[in-house]
Amino acid sequence: MIIEETKLAKVEDRGEVATRRAFLAAAGVAGLCYTAALAYPIYRYLASPEEMALSATAVTEVTLKDAQKQPAGSVLMFKFGASPAMLIHHEDGSWVAFSAVCTHLGCTVQYEPQANRIHCACHGGVYSAATGGNVSGPPPKPLTRFKVAVNEAGVEVSRA
Ligand code: FES
Repeated sequence: MIIEETKLAKVEDRGEVATRRAFLAAAGVAGLCYTAALAYPIYRYLASPEEMALSATAVTEVTLKDAQKQPAGSVLMFKFGASPAMLIHHEDGSWVAFSAVCTHLGCTVQYEPQANRIHCACHGGVYSAATGGNVSGPPPKPLTRFKVAVNEAGVEVSRA
């Protein structure tokens, strides 16, 4: 009788050990996933200047088909290489194109037609919608400005 109880206790111990191992394995996998989820944005942040430099030299011109039909007072967001950019058609009929990458920490900026400014929501940076010059907030320098050529097929945006 005592022998049977001892065998039963060993079987229960093995079951408990197996459960503990399964729990530790699951916790380890969850820890790895959590670490990867934290590390990937950090990696992207640190790698982004190199990627931006590569994309900055790779693409020199973008043609935006039918963009000449864009109404005055509006913006067209597009990709210049791998980076976001914006084409603004001002109310006075002029066209300007800028990189939409904030010069502070790289957030994507947005055109605000009612205030006729370009705003970065990350830290409140403000740029001139006419020149791309930094007006207020933390951005240290103006947005990169592109050359714009409007024709009947579209708008060509190229490095200035
Ligand atoms: S990233 Fe644009 S103001 Fe900081």
